[in-house]
Amino acid sequence: MGIQFKDVSYAYKGLKVNYDAIQHIDLTLEGKGEFIAIVGQTGSGKSTLVQHMNALLLPNSGKVVVFGQELPPKKKEKINYLRQKVGLVFQFPEYQLFEETILKDIMFGPKNFKSTEANAESMARKAAQIVGIDESLYEQSPFRISGGQMRRVAVAGILAMEPEVLVLDEPTRGLDPKGRRDLMTIFKSLHETEGKTIILISHDMDLVSEYAKRVIVLKEGHLVFDGKKEDLFEHPEFEQFHLDLPTPLKILKHLEKTVGVPYQPKYDFDSLLSYLKEVSHE
Ligand SMILES: Nc1ncnc2c1ncn2[C@@H]1O[C@H](COP(=O)(O)OP(=O)(O)O)[C@@H](O)[C@H]1O
Ligand SMILES: [Mg+2]
Repeated sequence: MGIQFKDVSYAYKGLKVNYDAIQHIDLTLEGKGEFIAIVGQTGSGKSTLVQHMNALLLPNSGKVVVFGQELPPKKKEKINYLRQKVGLVFQFPEYQLFEETILKDIMFGPKNFKSTEANAESMARKAAQIVGIDESLYEQSPFRISGGQMRRVAVAGILAMEPEVLVLDEPTRGLDPKGRRDLMTIFKSLHETEGKTIILISHDMDLVSEYAKRVIVLKEGHLVFDGKKEDLFEHPEFEQFHLDLPTPLKILKHLEKTVGVPYQPKYDFDSLLSYLKEVSHE
């Protein structure tokens, strides 16, 4: 099933003119097992694109099909349930926390979609556990914890709805390195142990290179690359995408040029270090 975009364009309506945000996008995402990064400069249309994945925005032209539901819908159908199937964590989601206690905040989503309070609570507890929010915090106000923890509470609120696809719009932005890594470890484990499809918008090429398998590049509202990360970073015209190279690849290119270490792409620091150990013993 998954999500398909067929020639999708969207423009924001202004008073005098409209602002084209994405144009003629064709795209197929599997509902299970993918780890995809969406990258591109600020204003390239990333946030607009992902808001089509759970019907927060409806295409001006073309169509999106989300788990079999066509968008825009042909007749007046209820499409709210898509927000449960495709969970979207916005940029700076902690600004949307509002309940008195952390547990209530995480319960808000499942309460809206599932019937009973008890059911919602058990889903919220499970989600809180996944993101590592300790039980002793459940009754505290979400506004009295650290930024990194607030971000986790916000992610738990989406996870509690048990979405099949998890879309994360710059989830690590503004976090310190440890907070960043902790959060990425949670997403990786959701992907590996539960087979959830993760769609990650990020400017951090080191994270993209370490975690994503497939990368989609947007440029001025157009999709300009969709494929394996290996093919993106080794693309002969990589500069045209205006992206930064991941640090391990930068180091390896530099070492090849300066001291002749044979270039072999490595996508994270651990593999870079093992490779350097290997060649230094030869
Ligand atoms: N609410 C809005 N009203 C008008 N224009 C917008 C709005 N949101 C985004 N845009 C414009 O749409 C384009 C794509 O924006 P966006 O999807 O937010 O890009 P990104 O997430 O890649 O930074 C940009 O030119 C941006 O200025
Ligand atoms: Mg954005």
